Amino acid sequence: MPPGPIVDGAQDMARALVRMAIVSADSFVVLTPLAGGVSSDIYRAELPSGVVCVKRALPRLKVAADWQVPVGRNQYEAEWMRVAAGIAPASVPRLLGEDREAGAFAMAWLPPERYPVWKTLLAEGAGTRAMARHVGDVLGRIHAATADRADLAARFATDALFHALRLDPYLATAARVNPAVAARLSALVATTAATRRVLVHGDFSPKNILIGPDGPVILDAECAWYGDPAFDLAFAVNHLLLKSAWRPRWRAEYAAMTRELVAAYRAHAAWEPWADLDARTAALLPGLLLARVDGKSPVEYLTADAQAAVRRFAHVHLREPAASVARLVHDFAP
Ligand SMILES: Nc1ncnc2c1ncn2[C@@H]1O[C@H](COP(=O)(O)OP(=O)(O)OP(=O)(O)O)[C@@H](O)[C@H]1O
Ligand SMILES: [Mg+2]
Repeated sequence: MPPGPIVDGAQDMARALVRMAIVSADSFVVLTPLAGGVSSDIYRAELPSGVVCVKRALPRLKVAADWQVPVGRNQYEAEWMRVAAGIAPASVPRLLGEDREAGAFAMAWLPPERYPVWKTLLAEGAGTRAMARHVGDVLGRIHAATADRADLAARFATDALFHALRLDPYLATAARVNPAVAARLSALVATTAATRRVLVHGDFSPKNILIGPDGPVILDAECAWYGDPAFDLAFAVNHLLLKSAWRPRWRAEYAAMTRELVAAYRAHAAWEPWADLDARTAALLPGLLLARVDGKSPVEYLTADAQAAVRRFAHVHLREPAASVARLVHDFAP
């Protein structure tokens, strides 16, 4: 009897691969869980035909706080990959199959030795300005190509999911812990939720970007939403700012990367006046900074002192928003 696609605890994944017609029911599959994911199970799957990566959304996120989200979000991640592949094919993993019943999809396997995670490179001081520029360019191209598209707005009308995955756990949770700036944070939630201009990735962080031989590859679009471009831009810049709170010796370099990323992005941002988008991004940024200290998904790498400094900076700039991202980055010295 053939062994069948059943390996320790991963039977659901193996069955999903069969339903995607990626393997036959009688083939031998070796599934190895990948570490790191908090919102999904993600496996390296060795098949007779080669290696693929398979991802399935979890109903409850692996964080300390109780955070439950519908698994239907997985289909939007696959949809985002389809749209992005039409715009920047080298910058997304190739989608190989989808099983909506299981909330799973399969994509090309990108070996970690050739595709390191950008966050790891940044933490080691191995990030470059060219990488940051390329990341900004890809984000700008995706936003520009999806701007003011009614068809995409209908396909990604994921407002409720975006609220459950992003606005509530980040900004609204931070508001509950910081009553002094709660009204400002609520205003940011309202502005962000009401701005529907481009296809937003929703988790545009260095943790979700691999740096491959042909440039960045963007992963993990389960928060995809037709909404405010400022969210993705602020999200990316936020993580670069947090890196300088983490590794202060490279602060000047992280600031330079931020400028490169924003400049490359800006070159594509023609759907609205740059001053408007810049001001919305600069207003949102202190909210996202605070969310990474006091929200449901705080970054794991800041000391208590660094957290307090980020919190202080965020409070000041929530009360008096900077007019531009450049100004805010310049002022950032927690
Ligand atoms: N196609 C792929 N090939 C190889 N490795 C991958 C691939 N996709 C994801 N990974 C690895 O798995 C990790 C987690 O992937 P992903 O971010 O999609 O999962 P997640 O559960 O949504 O994560 P989190 O919620 O923590 O951001 C990535 O950082 C990367 O190291
Ligand atoms: Mg991820």
